[in-house]
Amino acid sequence: MDDFLKDLKNLRKKAEDEISRATTFSELERIKTAYLGRKGILTSKFKDLVSLPENKRPEAGEIANEIKLELQKIVSQKIEKLKIKGKKEKEETFDYTLPGIKIATGKLHPLTQISSQIVEIFYGMGFEVVYGPFVETNYYNFDALNFPLDHPARDMMDTFYIDEKRLLRTHTSPVQIRVFERRKPPVRILAPGRVYRNEAINARSYCVFYQVEGFYVDYNVTMADLKGVLLAFVQELFGKDVSLRFRASFFPFTEPSAEVDISCVICGGKGCSVCKHRGWLEIGGAGMIDPEVFKAVGYDPETYSGYAFGMGIDRMAMLKYRIDDIRLFYENDLRFLRQF
Ligand code: PHE
Repeated sequence: MDDFLKDLKNLRKKAEDEISRATTFSELERIKTAYLGRKGILTSKFKDLVSLPENKRPEAGEIANEIKLELQKIVSQKIEKLKIKGKKEKEETFDYTLPGIKIATGKLHPLTQISSQIVEIFYGMGFEVVYGPFVETNYYNFDALNFPLDHPARDMMDTFYIDEKRLLRTHTSPVQIRVFERRKPPVRILAPGRVYRNEAINARSYCVFYQVEGFYVDYNVTMADLKGVLLAFVQELFGKDVSLRFRASFFPFTEPSAEVDISCVICGGKGCSVCKHRGWLEIGGAGMIDPEVFKAVGYDPETYSGYAFGMGIDRMAMLKYRIDDIRLFYENDLRFLRQF
């Protein structure tokens, strides 16, 4: 009996020492398990009680239980102490004079920004936005748009072919056909997106660029409607002083056709190096949709009329932001992109 009690006292002393020396939560947890866990040293002492004479067991058991409760209490107190100590240390090691961490914010690409502005303006005039595929077929890119088989634009020089039938679209006009096939007039659509041309690369032209197609088909749509919408658009994008003019031109899918010019936004039309002293800048092509296109999609050209236009988004971005090299849009140089 005496040995048993001595053992218990030593155990208690040892455990207390270890607990008081512990400096971390994990250390403390380990000590707790070593003594008080299911297979702990103190726990095993309870099992040893049976080896004592029967009349001594209650007293010994009581003492063992007291020690157990005491140790549990010391452990909880130590936990609180460690918590306070951790908080203090954190405060003491934080250096308030350090510079802050700069959070870099992402930005939209200038072409994406101007695209959104363009979409927003036409959206306000009742246009709905539709996107077409970049990989097109000869049919949508050329045939249905009334390109004669020997038209030079079909030449390998301008078009990136994938195989006999498939190609990278050279303009956004095929979206007209895709919409006409699925819908009946009235349709009023805006179709922005990437186009591809196998052209010599220089400051003014690149193998990839962006166009925005717009078209409207209904009863009695006229060229005056076309000009009115485009004028409203350029004045919204570039300012109220901008004027618009049509120059007679040709596209297989419009008749009559026009090149769309705006008065130079740099010099106001007086003549400068950007407009090559002409006072005007070309921003796209337009016209009344050719009856041949309507026939290809099953619209009655006697019942409906419509206009279409296609403008260069890169060109407009270059004018708006005064950028003189289109390649900057595609190089992803952060020094350039960060300016927008
Ligand atoms: N698709 C023509 C081009 O890329 C532009 C255009 C669109 C012309 C719609 C007339 C009508 O050059």
